[in-house]
Amino acid sequence: MRILLLTHAFNSLTQRLAAELRLRGHDITIEFDIADTVTEEAVMLFRPELIIAPYLRRAIPESVWSQHLCLIVHPGVVGDRGPSALDWAIQAGVAEWGVTVLQAEAEMDAGPVWANASFPMRAAKKSSIYRNEVTQAACRAVLLAVQRFVQPEFQPQRPLASQWRPLLPQADRAIDWQHDDSTSVLRKIAAADGSPGVADSLFGQPCHLFDAWPEATRRGLPGAVIARRETALLRATRDGAVWIGHVKREGSIKLPATLAFENESGSVPEAPLESWWRAGSATWQDIAYEESGAVGFLHFEFYNGAMSTVQCERLRAALVWARQRPLRILVLMGGADFWSNGIHLNVIEAASLGEGSAADESWRNINAMNDLALELIGSGQQLTVAALGGNTGAGGCFLARAADLVWAREATILNPHYKNMGNLYGSEYWTYLLPRRVGADAAGAIMRDRQPLTARRAVEIGFTDACLAGDVPAFRVEVERRAAELAAAPDFAAKIAAKCAARACDEAAKPLAAYREEELTHMRRNFYGFDPSYHIARHHFVRKSPASWTPRHLARHRDLGWSIP
Ligand code: COA
Repeated sequence: MRILLLTHAFNSLTQRLAAELRLRGHDITIEFDIADTVTEEAVMLFRPELIIAPYLRRAIPESVWSQHLCLIVHPGVVGDRGPSALDWAIQAGVAEWGVTVLQAEAEMDAGPVWANASFPMRAAKKSSIYRNEVTQAACRAVLLAVQRFVQPEFQPQRPLASQWRPLLPQADRAIDWQHDDSTSVLRKIAAADGSPGVADSLFGQPCHLFDAWPEATRRGLPGAVIARRETALLRATRDGAVWIGHVKREGSIKLPATLAFENESGSVPEAPLESWWRAGSATWQDIAYEESGAVGFLHFEFYNGAMSTVQCERLRAALVWARQRPLRILVLMGGADFWSNGIHLNVIEAASLGEGSAADESWRNINAMNDLALELIGSGQQLTVAALGGNTGAGGCFLARAADLVWAREATILNPHYKNMGNLYGSEYWTYLLPRRVGADAAGAIMRDRQPLTARRAVEIGFTDACLAGDVPAFRVEVERRAAELAAAPDFAAKIAAKCAARACDEAAKPLAAYREEELTHMRRNFYGFDPSYHIARHHFVRKSPASWTPRHLARHRDLGWSIP
């Protein structure tokens, strides 16, 4: 079937739906919801049998929905209507939520229902629910709706009752630091993460709060900032305290809290953790180590999978430390929602907002990523595993590939390419790591075509080593089981010997330093050269500038050969 995906962005949900529909043989193209005329033109060019809208910011024009069946993916249960569906659900603490696929009409979210799917709600931030439960439910519901579309006997029904809920206003999100307990502060920030955040203030300055974590032991005067640790600030509530990981100051971009308030944070007492071991009681810990027998697990929960220079350096220090442990297997777990999305574009952008240089910070960041990748590639006497429970993109994919084995959860999406960021060439030793896994031609196509890979497809082409079913907790159980099995395997010593021999052979053929130097020659040009594309793309990415056209590699209907009839 010819299906047009009409969406505000090619986000993780849209990527996943496109992949699932293509897997079932459908012909998919994508157009962004830029303007009515652009939508109308896409419809004219592609002549879709069905239009699906996974993520819209503007209404579909009547000229389109009155002529074609348009299915809207609404992140709410049947009868729920409005633009802040998930926010309201999280804020209200509902036990179960869902996704509804309904027909577009004049009135928003009021059309007949083609399919729906539900899920138990988890105590997590909105963006995490969206990337996990909502995405899974949306796939189930959309695939069902597509099946029903070809069943002439299926008649979509209007909900018996419906409730319109407007955009959740900041007044309803507001935190009362004197009276709210930690649970409600965490819930309010979770309901607004990653956008729009909760409007509040820190050090007397207005800002929006994101990325909150519980703290079990520390206490202070309600509302006071009582400690800092790495990128986060600890703020006291009525009955405890919560860590604030990220903030957006007025007129600025979203940044790690201690960077956004760099001067003010200096006078806040530090509350460092004693070691890399996972802390006993609940607290904020971005890098945490656990061990089970001869298997070590290194978790790195970096917000949005973005890894700044300092985060890379700290993770490398943790990796070096873990490698001194009596281990056979070291598993890099990444974070719950993302494994890694490469260099930290917001922190890099912040350098250009102050006295610093974004080019210099980009250079430092990519070198720190490379040092981390090098540490992994050279992990001699242990087998390393990258366990991708969440999505991973750009340099993060190649950092994962620097491990001996990559296991990905079935629902994850990988974007192992860089060009979307202003034609960035990329580093992380990808020129060494990618072709030897998939072949030179496929490596070229992956970089050029810039298409997302499902976990299953990544195994098929040889980029990863295993695709494991289940949700995040089930994935972790399976990773632990497999890692223990590897550690106990009778051929462990032979595997290590083969790995070291292969590395020595590769190094003799072409040293890693040469790959790095070649990649960095291109990157130097990206950062410091005449062509400012990378800096412009980063500027728009961190500010979420609306797209003014759909990239050509997504809008297949705009390829040469299609013509308006
Ligand atoms: N640096 C800083 N922030 C990043 C980031 C990075 N490298 N990658 C993603 N993010 C942020 C996004 O800005 C967004 O922020 P928000 O919380 O304010 O909304 C959040 O992570 C989620 O990103 P989003 O694009 O909505 O997620 P997705 O799952 O739909 O898409 C990617 C994932 C990886 C395809 C997409 O985020 C991307 O292209 N990232 C840039 C990767 C990159 O070019 N890295 C630099 C080269 S190594």
